[in-house]
Amino acid sequence: MASPGAKLGLQTIGSEQERAVAVVETEKQGDVAVIRMNNPPVNALGHALRTGLEAAFADANADPAVQAIVLTGTGRFFSAGADITEFASGMKEPFLPQVIDTIEASTKPVVAAVNGTALGGGLELALGCHYRVAAKDVRQLGLPEIKLGIIPGAGGTQRLPRAIGVEKALDLILSGAFIDAKAGAAAGLIDKIAEGDVVAEAVAFAKAHTAKPPRRIGQQTIDAAKVPAGLFEKARASIARHPSGPLAPKCAIDAVELSLTLPVSEGIPRERQIFREAAASPYARALQYAFFAERQAANLPGIGADVKTRAVETVGIIGGGTMGTGITLAFLNAGIPVTLVETTQDALDGGVNRIKDTLSANARRGRITEAQAADRLAKLTPALELKDLGKADLIIEAVFENMALKKEIFAKLDGIARSGAIIATNTSTLDVDEIAAVTKRPQDVLGLHFFSPANIMRLLEIVRAAKTGNDVMATAMGLAKRIGKVGVQAGVCDGFVGNRMLAAYAEEVQAMLLEGATPTDVDGALETWGMAMGPLAVADLAGLDVSYRIRKERKLVGERAQLARVPDKIVEMGRLGQKTGAGFYKYDANRKRQRDPEIEALIRAEGNAQQVRQKAISADEVVERSLLRLANEGAKILAEGIALRASDTDTMYLNGYGFPAWRGGPMWQADHLGLAKVAERIKAYHAQYGERWKIAPLIEKLAADGGSFAALDKKKR
Ligand code: CAA
Repeated sequence: MASPGAKLGLQTIGSEQERAVAVVETEKQGDVAVIRMNNPPVNALGHALRTGLEAAFADANADPAVQAIVLTGTGRFFSAGADITEFASGMKEPFLPQVIDTIEASTKPVVAAVNGTALGGGLELALGCHYRVAAKDVRQLGLPEIKLGIIPGAGGTQRLPRAIGVEKALDLILSGAFIDAKAGAAAGLIDKIAEGDVVAEAVAFAKAHTAKPPRRIGQQTIDAAKVPAGLFEKARASIARHPSGPLAPKCAIDAVELSLTLPVSEGIPRERQIFREAAASPYARALQYAFFAERQAANLPGIGADVKTRAVETVGIIGGGTMGTGITLAFLNAGIPVTLVETTQDALDGGVNRIKDTLSANARRGRITEAQAADRLAKLTPALELKDLGKADLIIEAVFENMALKKEIFAKLDGIARSGAIIATNTSTLDVDEIAAVTKRPQDVLGLHFFSPANIMRLLEIVRAAKTGNDVMATAMGLAKRIGKVGVQAGVCDGFVGNRMLAAYAEEVQAMLLEGATPTDVDGALETWGMAMGPLAVADLAGLDVSYRIRKERKLVGERAQLARVPDKIVEMGRLGQKTGAGFYKYDANRKRQRDPEIEALIRAEGNAQQVRQKAISADEVVERSLLRLANEGAKILAEGIALRASDTDTMYLNGYGFPAWRGGPMWQADHLGLAKVAERIKAYHAQYGERWKIAPLIEKLAADGGSFAALDKKKR
């Protein structure tokens, strides 16, 4: 235990002297100095913390009364790594690798008491310590730098292979995955798991090691003979479509490979060079933008921490189709009990079976244990009556897109739901205000638009209707995080944010087909550019009948009807996409797509019938036209206040529409092309194609003022 008055003092440092909070605190527990990082919220290793650590270690090493040193964090965090905000503004000395070298060089044993999350530079810091004792409930140990488009830059690529073996280290660094304390111990990363107080156990561990020479990972060598043959070649062959883009994965492999041949003293400077190369890339900037954009989306203007959220402990879901069962799974997976309602026993059984099958498949594939699958299923209550939802804290309607049906359900729910329950519709297009208006409690109503498959896709579009209460919005945002989703606010309009932009993009794709591109040309160009799937392959996956039905309800006329003719004809041929084995493509038994000459002929015939001038469309043109339509519609949505920020629309595209994170999103892409250039290109297309290319006034204005979407977002903060 700490003896009263044994503090060595607070390290308030240099230019951060004025900072009210001391970020590094040293406390003496007998002859052990316990150095504690305290830099909320996540102990990011910013300049003040690095400077404080250097000073604290110098003091502890110089103090003859100190025999050993324990390094720990505060709250849930040991350290979440480098302060990402410093990447853009530039880092000042001491750099983290220097600090870690100082720690590793300590002549007294240094034990990391890993009290919580240790990621990136945080884990590298722990690897610089001579030993690691971790609290048993630590879940987040890893080097996730790759997700930010960079590589570990403080020795991680050199020390982790020495600590846990090259193959495992390469896997962790390339995937950016987190492991827990138990897996860390099994891998050799953690020396001891603390069952009780981690600092007390680390102090005891340190005391037991004072007589032994410090164990420095940086002085160990790797036995290259133990590295599996062909490991690096295989890794290089596996990264063609890595979610972090083309550069960081290659850099990570190169850096880890160096650990086989170079001593750490030479490996770390080389790692730093490679780190800088990755960090300077547009992909790293885009991924870091995406990281902060996602967190920014959770901030709802005018809704502060003082707004009391509602408790959501039980959920009712109406509709056992694909969407309803996906949403049910999303809640069950988060441990939240669900009552699922269908109108007939057959439909209910179908939904329940789908849920059971998914849970069993997840258990079979080792994603969850059998016990977890059983536990989740036990939290499901099937029901045939809406009145069984009377106690639910949140009710989500997930029946098919029909306004009359939705209104009928909401009117009934108004008489059934308990007072204070939140009532949501999963509509992807319909007017949430109109739905809310049939209840006497529009303040409790909102849209919760999940994306299919709802148990997998991370995006949750939270549609705020005119009268939705602040507490309901805050609750929905918190709930999104609880069920592992990225919540983003949207306002009410046809298609909200994501699907309204998608409609513009899909329309342009049809135009390109009529002009001479084949489905393979379009999807191939966009997939090569980085999209997870091309738009026509996505349409086949989602089912062509869904958008067909929506188009028929909308009774399209003019150019919009002409551009819908090909997909309409395909549906009318009975080709509904993957589920019928054919759509824009044909599919083999393994659902592998193949080009279909019949559809290509149909498209050509339609182009000719509409007298569309045929031309060759390059991959660059496919990408440009797709991106510009997305950004132009995004700008209109932003100007109308339907989206709060340009970065919110990007967050939606990255999490719900397969847009590659290393490309930042459509609005980010427009900014990086430069809005003046964007305006010029849109106007050129407008002159060529007419009204569907009408420029968003916001783009024109920003282009004229030399502005950008990012600068506009910043002004709103
Ligand atoms: N730097 C700066 N700010 C960070 C940060 C970091 N490394 N990690 C988190 N934050 C900020 C977030 O932006 C957020 O700020 P706001 O509240 O202002 O929005 C706040 O800390 C809390 O973060 P979350 O909302 O994400 O909290 P969470 O509990 O859901 O998740 C987390 C915590 C798992 C640590 C998550 O924040 C995360 O993944 N952070 C990034 C971790 C990472 O990538 N580390 C490597 C950094 S690069 C590096 O270390 C390079 C190197 O080799 C030296």
